[in-house]
Amino acid sequence: MSSDTTPRTFHVKSFGCQMNVYDGERMAELLAAQGMTAVDEREAADLVVLNTCHIREKATEKVYSDIGRLRREDGSNPLIAVAGCVAQAEGEEIMTRAPQVRVVVGPQAYHRLPDMVAAAASGTRETETDMPAEAKFAALPQRRKSGPSAFLTIQEGCDKFCTYCVVPYTRGAEISRPYADLVEEARLLVEGGAREITLLGQNVNAWHGEDDKGRTIGLAGLAAELARLPDLARIRYTTSHPADMDDALIEAHGTNDKLMPFLHLPVQSGNDRVLKAMNRSHSAESYLKIIERVRAARPDIALSGDFIVGFPGETEAEFADTLALIDATRYAQAFSFKYSPRPGTPAATMDDQIAAEIMDDRLKRLQTAITRDQLAFNRASVGKRCQVLIERRGRQPGQWLGKSPWLQSVHFTDEAAIGDLVEVELIEAGPNSIAGRRIDSTPGA
Ligand code: SAH
Ligand code: SF4
Ligand code: F3S
Repeated sequence: MSSDTTPRTFHVKSFGCQMNVYDGERMAELLAAQGMTAVDEREAADLVVLNTCHIREKATEKVYSDIGRLRREDGSNPLIAVAGCVAQAEGEEIMTRAPQVRVVVGPQAYHRLPDMVAAAASGTRETETDMPAEAKFAALPQRRKSGPSAFLTIQEGCDKFCTYCVVPYTRGAEISRPYADLVEEARLLVEGGAREITLLGQNVNAWHGEDDKGRTIGLAGLAAELARLPDLARIRYTTSHPADMDDALIEAHGTNDKLMPFLHLPVQSGNDRVLKAMNRSHSAESYLKIIERVRAARPDIALSGDFIVGFPGETEAEFADTLALIDATRYAQAFSFKYSPRPGTPAATMDDQIAAEIMDDRLKRLQTAITRDQLAFNRASVGKRCQVLIERRGRQPGQWLGKSPWLQSVHFTDEAAIGDLVEVELIEAGPNSIAGRRIDSTPGA
């Protein structure tokens, strides 16, 4: 391999879920450990890693248009590596359709990225989409630096096989990372500057392991152990499945002070026939029961969810059940999507695919209901005092942006610094953010 072609600079661009963001950070750490330098501008990068998402059709199309846009003015391309879930699902197709792509690496194989890049730099094309999930984590470098809010993947893969979803195929079977590794990675993140850790998994609340005394524990037990890290102030987790919402985790929301009052618990639909066709294991009623119990444990908890409108066969009356579930739950925020048929999933070939206009209309009505509840939740927060973890500067001079315990974006103007946890009174609410006033400023500041 000639050293001239070996990339010296790289840029990693992540699409999709928070786990992809985590994976993107780990890939950047791997490349930096090889002596390469991260650059913000992809035009300046010798190597561009597109860390892709396959969850909906648009996500995949975006990858191909991005590959096209990487061509430089002189007609050359950087060394392009496609990673993530599209790489896993469509690796061969990418290699055929996009000859400028030199590396295709799946989500469970990216620890091999540096070797593959080195080989590709000498002219080969490299594909690796094997799925030995645990090997990856062991092969990653130690974590050294972190922003105030860090991600930590504790569980990966999914065995639930919802009929619309590609994740079980792109991320593979469910695995839980070992307890000791997670405690150590969390410790290093905190040492590197993290004040908040969000534990990640496709079914994060299915995490289980053995603690240092050999006891079998679940997510609540892991969160209890992490809460003992003195400089860690906040613990969050996402995404949970209703079927794995166990008693201990619900109870932890009332007892673990560092566990933030926020729960993202996707329901997808409020109609039992649709839920069954989706192969979700819960009903609307069993979901609402969980919500009731979580609220009993932590009355101020902010709830979030995911919704799919226009699943094959969804009638107007069935959609109305989803709106009714939203009314009953009063979400603090939620994500909603039009059903997108994914190749290879059972729902893609179901009868009665729903017309685009109907989906548009349902999505609009659903989002109107969510925005209404989100604004109501934010307005009800006005007058509260809470801690805000500062994540970055705002657009106005002297302005800071951070998150409340309920994951609301809060902005205020005062003296502060990134990573500070400051006491703020919430004074004015919009649907997407809240204005606050710092109340613990040093005198005269
Ligand atoms: N593991 C998580 C997240 C899965 S993907 C979970 O189980 O909740 C995030 C969201 O994307 C899902 O909750 C679902 O609402 C949406 N989604 C998944 N597949 C989809 C599809 N084919 N069409 C539209 N939305 C989809
Ligand atoms: Fe997809 Fe369902 Fe698994 Fe979530 S639980 S990742 S929606 S298959
Ligand atoms: Fe997308 Fe894969 Fe995450 S499909 S949502 S990047 S698990």
